[in-house]
Amino acid sequence: MVWLNPHSDPSAAASDLGHAMTARATRDERARQGFVTAARAHMYGSIARALKTTYECKVKPAFRARKRLDPKTDLEVHRALKQETVFKFYSRYRNIVQGLVYRSVIPGIERDLPALIARAKALSQDTTRAEGTLTLNPRLKVPRYTGGLDVHLMPGNYHTDHVADDVAQGAIYEHGWLVFIRGIIGHLDGITDGISKYVRARYPDFRPARILDLGCTTGIHTLPWKATFPEADVHGVDVAAPCLRFGHARAQSRGIAVHYHQMDGSATTFPDASFDLVTSCMVLHEMPMDRVRALLQDARRLLRPGGLMLHYELPPSTYMDPYSDFFLNWDSCYNKEPFYRAFRAADPMKECRDAGFARGDYVQFVVPSTHHFGADAPAAVLNQTAADTPTLLQKYLGGVRWFCFGAWRSA
Ligand SMILES: C[S@@+](CC[C@H](N)C(=O)[O-])C[C@H]1O[C@@H](n2cnc3c(N)ncnc32)[C@H](O)[C@@H]1O
Repeated sequence: MVWLNPHSDPSAAASDLGHAMTARATRDERARQGFVTAARAHMYGSIARALKTTYECKVKPAFRARKRLDPKTDLEVHRALKQETVFKFYSRYRNIVQGLVYRSVIPGIERDLPALIARAKALSQDTTRAEGTLTLNPRLKVPRYTGGLDVHLMPGNYHTDHVADDVAQGAIYEHGWLVFIRGIIGHLDGITDGISKYVRARYPDFRPARILDLGCTTGIHTLPWKATFPEADVHGVDVAAPCLRFGHARAQSRGIAVHYHQMDGSATTFPDASFDLVTSCMVLHEMPMDRVRALLQDARRLLRPGGLMLHYELPPSTYMDPYSDFFLNWDSCYNKEPFYRAFRAADPMKECRDAGFARGDYVQFVVPSTHHFGADAPAAVLNQTAADTPTLLQKYLGGVRWFCFGAWRSA
């Protein structure tokens, strides 16, 4: 699995988020960030290849000789590989590099924190650039499934307030995201930039007037919805106050009006039928299935007739061969994302039906990243159906592609 785009320079623009909430980094810190990006590329390149070769050439034949059949599930692959040195090396290396993503950005953020907090306050109060809002609810209880973890090893997780009016966790998430994706996605908000444009092209008559992004964190992937549908009133919801403060300031600094709310996305307090598009980006796999189910039901409640619910997520296990499934599920065991595997094992269509959506209203598609496959790639798959998903996931395996599912609310 090699995702690094040869046209990207890992050392270019390290630390630079391109907006006013960027923490300054010294030359050494920028070099470290470039190193971590390159170390990630090495992991997904030669180390991941060595892992797969060991599996194909050694572990799988040994399994077959013992059991007279091939491993059928990710768990069988995992168990069979676990004792191999290359697996231990890959896992340890990945853990270390994941930790380094955050360690490479934290010093600059710590140093700049008072200035970032002051800037966030000033930007939040300044409505001359944009009229976005921030509504915090200090009484909201952060659910234990996320508040009790450092999800994907991020120290302090999304929600911790270290000082009054803190923005540190938002800054760590966003600066870390840049180190994490540089060379992979192309630009910071590449996911929903691509998905929102695909939605507009695929459904030209769909013009959402109110959009809600659930689990928006800092809004990296909320803002592109506003860019694609500039007339829409765009809202983002998250439980994590420091991310919302950071995100609101960043949106205001860019002159983009987005309304941020501290709310539980599986039990929002918005009125029924108050949105045309309810979406999420990389959120559901971090939630236990009972919360995912509550979120899908609430999303349906929030939709007006003719509205669309759409989630960008990891592709379900059913579309993967056992090895690829194991490779993706690694995070569930070793990266503090314990709900990942159960979410991927679920059937998204059934989950949507169980949440009250009609079978015929289900949508599912794969969006190829223009960064990897060129500007025309999404247009070439506008007419795909859910049945095309396995073929398209395979076709675009060598680069980045986004798996999306959801449903229209017809009545
Ligand atoms: C992986 S991040 C999402 C990233 C973000 N959507 C983006 O595209 O940059 C998961 C987010 O979901 C939030 N979250 C988890 N459970 C939530 C809930 N019940 N309601 C709202 N937000 C939640 C977390 O606080 C975190 O910010």
